[in-house]
Amino acid sequence: MPRFPSSSPSASTLSDSVFSQLVAKARALPGPIHPLHVGDTYREPLAAAQAEAQRTADHPRLHNYAPVQGEPALLDAIEERLATRGGPVDRETIQVTCGATSGVSVWAAGLLDPGDEVVILAPFWPLVRGIVAGRGARAIELPFWDRLGDPGFDVEAAIEGAVGARTVAIYVNSPNNPTGRVMPDDALAARARVAARHDLWVLDDETYDDLDYRDARSTPPWARADLRDRTVAAHTLSKTFGLAGARVGFLHGPPAAMRTLRGVQAFQTYCAPRPMQLGAARALREGDAWLAEARSAYAEAGRRAAAVVGVAPPEGGTFLFFDASPHLREGEDVMGLLDRCLEAGVLLTPGAASGSAYARWVRLCYTSVPPRELDDALDRLSRVLRGSGR
Ligand SMILES: Cc1ncc(COP(=O)(O)O)c(C=O)c1O
Repeated sequence: MPRFPSSSPSASTLSDSVFSQLVAKARALPGPIHPLHVGDTYREPLAAAQAEAQRTADHPRLHNYAPVQGEPALLDAIEERLATRGGPVDRETIQVTCGATSGVSVWAAGLLDPGDEVVILAPFWPLVRGIVAGRGARAIELPFWDRLGDPGFDVEAAIEGAVGARTVAIYVNSPNNPTGRVMPDDALAARARVAARHDLWVLDDETYDDLDYRDARSTPPWARADLRDRTVAAHTLSKTFGLAGARVGFLHGPPAAMRTLRGVQAFQTYCAPRPMQLGAARALREGDAWLAEARSAYAEAGRRAAAVVGVAPPEGGTFLFFDASPHLREGEDVMGLLDRCLEAGVLLTPGAASGSAYARWVRLCYTSVPPRELDDALDRLSRVLRGSGR
């Protein structure tokens, strides 16, 4: 059947910005607006990892294609990093991608077919739902992170209840964007049991693994005996090393799946930008002190922000998520509240971007502006929240 002038129905739900309304309005307002809506950092990356530190004199053919799997220097650095985090990983099973967005897209294109279902633990990173939908698959949103730890919330029963005859995978992101929660070991085991019972793939989104603020980190899912055979892990240097614009990340997982995903990678972006892969290798090799500083500055910022919005301090990541119901005026919805925040100089994200059960919630990123600017933003936000209670 002809389609012109329509575009693909599975792509028609996608948009370049889930916050466009507010961003456009922010641009029209006078005065500084604190951008706490987007997951970014105020920190410059490690000097050796920056774009201007990669030179043709040091790397002949710097601007040529890299191998599809990834630049050898970066693969070396990834191998070393994974070995110290969860144990050795076969180099052949690593695939460099253009950040985790592309990593998740490659995963979806390689392991999902139209009509498949993916259980997504909600609230979630706003783009994952669209990536699944863009593949013609269905995202089954399971309210999870805000319930984790509630007495009576049974992780295994909840995940089991979301699995249907067409389910092929579970998507989990821990530390979680947007709640800042980390999945405890018993929940990992419960997730593994459900996945094994129904023969499901697990997409383990490790974007914030190195931004875990707890004293002791658990074994990552991809290294656990009960999960590793069915888990593809997606990593990125965007958050941990402040290299979001570099577009470098990587996937790893079981050999057969990774062979397929390498094929998909070749047909999507072919390779990640070679200069930035070389910078990313330097970040992984030499960036531990940078990362430790970032982790402690972010954890402190997270504690300050959590006190203002009235939630527990984050266990990891760069976001907080809070139920805005007590702050809504009579008849007001969250967009009304976010409008008032914007008038006060603070741009935030509506919770609905992270799941359809979260229309009354709000997401805040506490790492996108430097500490002094964050303090100003939090003062302004606090005045709005205190002034609008019912
Ligand atoms: C959970 C999660 N996954 C993936 C991504 C995408 O990261 P990248 O910049 O590497 O594409 C983000 C970015 O915010 C994220 O929060």
